[in-house]
This record gives sequence, C-alpha cells and structure tokens, in this order.
Amino acid sequence: MKIIEVESYEDMSRKAADIIKGVVCSKPNAVLGLATGSTPEGVYRCLIEDNKKGLIDFSKVTSFNLDEYEGLDGSNPNSYRYYMDNKLFNHINIHKERTFVPDGMAEDLEKECKAYDEKISLAGGIDLQILGIGSNGHIGFNEPADMLIPSTHVTELTEETIKANSRFFPSLDQVPRRAVTMGMGSILKARRILLLASGKNKADVIDRLLQGDISTSLPASMLHMHRDVTLIVDKEAASKISNDCCA
Ligand code: GLP
Repeated sequence: MKIIEVESYEDMSRKAADIIKGVVCSKPNAVLGLATGSTPEGVYRCLIEDNKKGLIDFSKVTSFNLDEYEGLDGSNPNSYRYYMDNKLFNHINIHKERTFVPDGMAEDLEKECKAYDEKISLAGGIDLQILGIGSNGHIGFNEPADMLIPSTHVTELTEETIKANSRFFPSLDQVPRRAVTMGMGSILKARRILLLASGKNKADVIDRLLQGDISTSLPASMLHMHRDVTLIVDKEAASKISNDCCA
C-alpha cells in the first residue's frame, strides 16, 4: 500500500482529484468506482471545478457506486443516488445513464446484486475505485464480521455504522438497517484503488489498518491483498500511525 500523507482535507481532496483526472485523461472511457460519505465531498468539488475549466471530460466515463441503503429511492435526500446526483453528476458532463448506483428499492434485491456485478464486468471492470473508510474499518457497507461476502450483496448495518451515519438523518430510527453493497471481492477486482481518510475520528482505524494484519474484523485490511492501492491520509487521520507499521 502506497501512503501519501498530506496536511489537510483540502490537500487530500485535490490530490485525489488529480489522480482521477490523470486516469480519465489517459483513458477517456474510464470506469470509475465512486463512494459517498463526507470524505469524498471535497474530491467531487475539485472535479466539478476542473470539469468547468475544461481540464477533465466525463462524457465517455462510466461510474459505479459502492452502495445504497435499502428502501430509499433516488428522490430521498438521504439516498446515495441523491447524494451523487447533487454532489457530482448534476454539475459535470457525465451521461446520467452511464452512472450506476445499486437500486435499494428493487423488488428482488438478490437479483439486483447479481445484475450489478454483471454490469461492472460488462463495462470492462473498474479502472479506479475511490474508497472512504468507516471508523470500524468498513469499506462500502462491508461491516466487520466473521465472514465476508465477496460479491455485491444485501447486508445488515452495525449499530456503530447506524449511529455514525445518523448525522445525516433527522433521527436515529430513520437510518435504514440494511443496504446493498459491493462486496470486498468486487472491490478488489478494480485495477487501482484510492483509499481516502481524513480527520481525527479516522486516526485509530488508520493505525489499525497499517499494522498490516488481514482480518475480516477489519474489512479495509483486505486491501493489503491488492497490488495497487494508494492511501491518501491527512495529518489528523495519520496522527496515530505507529512508526513500526508494516504497510
Ligand atoms: C458510509 C459509506 C462508506 C463510507 C463510510 C465513511 O457508511 N457506506 O462508503 O466510506 O461511511 O463515511 P465518511 O466519509 O462520512 O466518514
């Protein structure tokens, strides 16, 4: 895992946007794997800025999002489809029909999950996958567990994640208990992975991750098995990394 330590959230965002720009410039029809949460918001702002300046062209790009809550449709401000439309897609020249987010409203969610992985394969696989990390080490909605499901699947959220994500909802009981998420196997198929972490509340999990052990109790640790992962971490999130870490 390559580690880039930067000063601030803004620097992390700019650095990540520049890497995405590099990928799209060298492959205009690139397939991007996208994430939600607070972490990538700054990256999306930078990409919008660059797109408006003509520095990046999304007209041939395809995107696949990591996850979606069960039972929320795209008009719900807490759905990840709504997030993506409002924080990125509506402001850049991407073709909406080439932006994919799992459908948390699908009548047959199992079928939706299978179809989602097939769509990714048909698009040629993900060239660059952007990831945030949960404070419990989750990736997408792959929560710590005794076993992980490799393909896209329906999952139960942990209490910790429900609590962490309740900041976006009017109340704790309105946070969906289940979600559709790409599995760690689907994620690890991406050719290149960019993991982003910012802020003090990510310092413990980044320290744990960089101990180097691989365990399903820390889903992010599976990323150690991939040959091309870059972690961009700001000063606060890097503040607990022990010197003898073996990443
Ligand atoms: C959510 C998302 C993840 C995201 C994580 C961290 O649960 N499903 O994809 O990486 O939370 O979010 P944040 O960036 O807001 O800390």
